[in-house]
Amino acid sequence: MAIKNIRAASAAGLHGHVVVPGDKSVSHRSVMFAGLCNTPVRITNFLRAQDCMSTVKCMQALGVKVEDKGDSLFVCGNGLHGLKEATRVIDAGNSGTTLRLMLGILAGQNFLTTFTGDPSLSSRPMGRVIKPLGKMGAKIVGRQGNSLLPITVIPAATALKGITYEMPMASAQVKSAILLAGLYAQGITKVIEPYPSRDHTERMLNAFGAKLVKEGNCVSIYPAENLEAPEYIEVPGDISSAAYFIVAASIIKGSDVLIKNVGMNETRTGIIDVLRNMGAAIEVSNMRKSSGEPVADLRVRYARLHGTEIKAEIVPRLIDEIPVITVAAMVADGITVISGAQELRVKESDRIKTICNELGKLTDALTEKEDGLIIKGGSIFKTAQCDSCNDHRIAMSLAVAGAAGKGVIVDHAECVDISYPEFYTTLEMLKNNSQGE
Ligand code: S3P
Repeated sequence: MAIKNIRAASAAGLHGHVVVPGDKSVSHRSVMFAGLCNTPVRITNFLRAQDCMSTVKCMQALGVKVEDKGDSLFVCGNGLHGLKEATRVIDAGNSGTTLRLMLGILAGQNFLTTFTGDPSLSSRPMGRVIKPLGKMGAKIVGRQGNSLLPITVIPAATALKGITYEMPMASAQVKSAILLAGLYAQGITKVIEPYPSRDHTERMLNAFGAKLVKEGNCVSIYPAENLEAPEYIEVPGDISSAAYFIVAASIIKGSDVLIKNVGMNETRTGIIDVLRNMGAAIEVSNMRKSSGEPVADLRVRYARLHGTEIKAEIVPRLIDEIPVITVAAMVADGITVISGAQELRVKESDRIKTICNELGKLTDALTEKEDGLIIKGGSIFKTAQCDSCNDHRIAMSLAVAGAAGKGVIVDHAECVDISYPEFYTTLEMLKNNSQGE
């Protein structure tokens, strides 16, 4: 396929309003969990991006009916024990959430499933879910000592058993995989995290009638006979997609942007806390609930930012936003130090390296650490040709840096289709609003 590149030109200020697309994490879970019920579920504001479509195709391959009727997605499953053996290998594409959560669901099934994925997903560690699922009695094999794709889930001889598992890292994907397997296990399954990660699985399973108990950083799930779906699920807007405009409006002089319907789940709002700490002008209004998830509108205006320190405990609340927070820190006065973010090394790319190599082409401000970055703020931006390395969050961060500085050419720009297909058009729209004023 030809490499697509885009030129993100420098902007004089961003103006107008944006409605960000549906939350990626919630969209995945909505179609998976609805597919485990036996009554139809209507999902609105579902994110129609490549990652979530990988989940849709996966559920369809397992016998769940999923129909896209334009304004809503309709999911009709066959119950908690109603998934059917797929007739072919399932491709999880680029999506870690699809693969890891599905491994949890499939661990307890009495049929065989084989997964494949794209080159990025094929190099990401899956031992982190295969190991605990193995302790529950699941039989899952994969390349490189059962840690890499292709992966096959083999029907286990006996029922899964509940375990207590202390996770070595804070990861919502690992936590979710274990909790989902726990629905099919005998006894209680307990997961303990070092720091709280996003809790969409717990909230949604709870709304579907599963019994979960949360005590501090520990969540327990009880086995379930069946799940009962609400009639419809409204997916909140994705704060991880809003993040690019929150940062762009904060660092581009003269900006004033309203971002509507942003998911405000506390396990995801680390970016707002950090940017406010750096001096950002972010006003939250119209707080409400959308299918059990808090949402609000955000007004973001340009403000002079200063450096900050980001430590391990807040990292899970902003893990996907670190590339674009780096852009904010490049503009801010003073130094920003990010630590405890070693999980970035196993994302769609090694994000610590990709940030340093690619955003590093625009400034001399970045120093790599094993577990994060040191960013010297107030740096002069150069213009450059940079590579997203097929990592959607790097592509969008580069475009924001280009808009805040002297412009950028982004190679492999099309990877934004993973989470935000309309991103470049929306950014251009906000820039053009400024030119008219
Ligand atoms: C996600 C969890 C996070 C995040 C990813 C989506 C989820 O990954 O980075 O984009 O939907 O559960 P980890 O659980 O690996 O931290």
